[in-house]
Amino acid sequence: MRPAGPEVRIDLARRQALSLQGLRPLRIAHRGASARAPENTLAAFREAVRLGADAVECDVRLSGDGKPVVIHDDTVDRTTDGRGMVARLPLAELRRLDAGSWFASRFRGERIPTLEETFEFARGRCGLNLEIKGAAADADGDGATIRAVARSLAASGFRDPLIVSSFSRQALILARSAMPRVRLGLLVSRSLRGLRSAHRLTGLAAVHPHVRLASRRRMRLVHALGLLVLFWTVNERRLIRRLQDLGADGLMTDDPALFLDLRAGDGKRSFLGRIRRRR
Ligand code: G3P
Ligand code: MG
Repeated sequence: MRPAGPEVRIDLARRQALSLQGLRPLRIAHRGASARAPENTLAAFREAVRLGADAVECDVRLSGDGKPVVIHDDTVDRTTDGRGMVARLPLAELRRLDAGSWFASRFRGERIPTLEETFEFARGRCGLNLEIKGAAADADGDGATIRAVARSLAASGFRDPLIVSSFSRQALILARSAMPRVRLGLLVSRSLRGLRSAHRLTGLAAVHPHVRLASRRRMRLVHALGLLVLFWTVNERRLIRRLQDLGADGLMTDDPALFLDLRAGDGKRSFLGRIRRRR
């Protein structure tokens, strides 16, 4: 296993700094612009880009025949007109489902995207934060999801900013060995316990905490490790401002329109400033 060295983080930082023009937290659309279009569909990704998102967060799991697809739940019940476990349905069946009408009738005909078409969509338009769901994210996962993501990434030739994230340290360890140069983000919802060891094992680029973990002390701790902090899920302007002031490097939101009237200079500390200090 080859842990990501500092050069990987600096490369990420440079690219992000470019896309940020130096001053704002990264604007990341959670499951696409999921407040305005059906989550994890190309329509939601299109809307996110239209509203100026720097990147799209989406959830990846495997179909019954081992193809990586973009859907949050382990069943298709909530977000399509079908029923059943994603892991039991072959890609051809998943692709027949309507993934838009549940949200609004004008989205009828939206499909569950494949990871391949997600890369295709994002190329040259936005960065991607791929959250690994499914078996690979379980402690005893066999890594099939990670291997499929690695294959799809290699085939796509995707060169835009990319981060692979998971709640599962095991998934990130597998990701590090399958994709030695990819940026990795650890999702945390309750505490930062175990962060240092996860970083040692996987060479993280970022931590993705739930907003309830926002505090100056934790920000200092994570920045002292040289990692970016990308919060989820931030759907109120007041909270956006507070997290900017705390020095957040990125914010995931269901509605990127919330960012539209934020000036680049908002927030007390500049993104570029933080990166320079870390070199
Ligand atoms: O990646 C951040 C966030 O998406 C994690 O939670 O359940 O929305 O995938 P969830
Ligand atoms: Mg997610």
